[in-house]
Amino acid sequence: MSENCPHEDWDPMDPAVGADYVAAFKDLQKRCPVPWSDQFGGFWSAMTYADIADVCMHPDRFQNAEQFTVPHLDLGIPWLPLQSDAPRHQQYRGVLQPKLAKRRMLTLESDMRELARTLLEPLAERGSFDGAADLAQPFAGQALCLALNFPRSFWNTFFGWNRGITKAMQTADLALLQSVLGDISGYVATEVRARRDDPGDDFLSTLLATRIDGRELTEQEIVGYYLLLMSAGHNTSADSLSHAIVHLARHPEDRARLRAEPEILPNAVEEIVRFYSPLLALGRRVGQDTELGGRELKAGDQVAVVWAAASHDTDHLADADEFRLDRPVAKHLSFGLGAHYCVGAELGRLQLRIAIEELLSHFDAFTITGDLVKTTWPTNGYLSVPLSAARATVSSSPAPGGGVAGR
Ligand code: HEM
Repeated sequence: MSENCPHEDWDPMDPAVGADYVAAFKDLQKRCPVPWSDQFGGFWSAMTYADIADVCMHPDRFQNAEQFTVPHLDLGIPWLPLQSDAPRHQQYRGVLQPKLAKRRMLTLESDMRELARTLLEPLAERGSFDGAADLAQPFAGQALCLALNFPRSFWNTFFGWNRGITKAMQTADLALLQSVLGDISGYVATEVRARRDDPGDDFLSTLLATRIDGRELTEQEIVGYYLLLMSAGHNTSADSLSHAIVHLARHPEDRARLRAEPEILPNAVEEIVRFYSPLLALGRRVGQDTELGGRELKAGDQVAVVWAAASHDTDHLADADEFRLDRPVAKHLSFGLGAHYCVGAELGRLQLRIAIEELLSHFDAFTITGDLVKTTWPTNGYLSVPLSAARATVSSSPAPGGGVAGR
């Protein structure tokens, strides 16, 4: 153990670390890039871009089937497709790929924009609202339900589960997690029977038509998809959008620039995801004794891959700590890397672009009016963003195919 790495090198739950994660990550990158923490049963963290790439590109040494988060969310049911390894992983992931492909996302643009407008109109009437609870969270949920072809009658049920899972994760409440799991299992058991008799083009029918090694998915596997999609597909986008709202509220010059140069919006979206990585970290389990960043890891050890630290690694990107609205899209790890690279990345990008366009065309300005409430490890977003917003004096529609409305 080097003198720069005492036995417990860091604690992600330390309020001082939580107050400024990036500062803590940067200190560790220089001093002790694969630190050990005694939290959550003890785990290593990959903090640099190079070490995270090493982990993600070597699934034989760093595996997902046993564990994909730190702390380990062990429900006895794998969260699919993330909590699986090759060769099964490709089959599980393949179920989602056509639904979330870029060309399909583009066909959803006008319906998704309509969802954003329907949410924003009453908020514009009110003039003050919560950017996270009233906008980012519902919009991310609705856009996900739209993309996955969830029946409208099911959306509120899904949002209810999501609220339960989010609360359980923020408070480490395993009993609540188990209770949501019970609700999902009940729903799946009932709906599977109904869809078998009367299949449609909805998500559950797609799962029922799926064959893995020639067999149908089990009910447990189907539950596993819902579990993961709620956290990976809903909270990531909501948290990223909440960062976008906070950033644009704090930077009127960036609002003005996006209105004047809508063509840089895709760059801005990517920069928001890179700079404010909405997932601090996910996890792996060490598959065989190995070395990472000069430290000896044992089979069975837990490893956190700290995406948010990689985004600020100046050895990888010299000006990584600078937020550049028009940054040419840089290679970053906020969407992951390798076999588990985010299958919903195009959906995440589209949601952010539409939400920002609509926000800017509905409001001339928006200001933060109260205390921001942040999520906690391993997520990185806002639970509450109190805003007062001045309705746009002239409202016009965004240009087809994107772009912020001329005002
Ligand atoms: C800004 C938004 C998003 C961010 C930053 C993000 C980030 C990530 C990251 C870092 C991973 C890699 C996990 C790992 O290797 O351990 C991942 C995987 C995944 N994401 Fe996203 N995500 C976002 C949006 C979405 C959306 C909208 C969906 C919708 C379905 C989604 C679904 C998934 C799934 C299913 C996986 C697992 C892929 C696999 O195991 O092959 N994500 N995401």
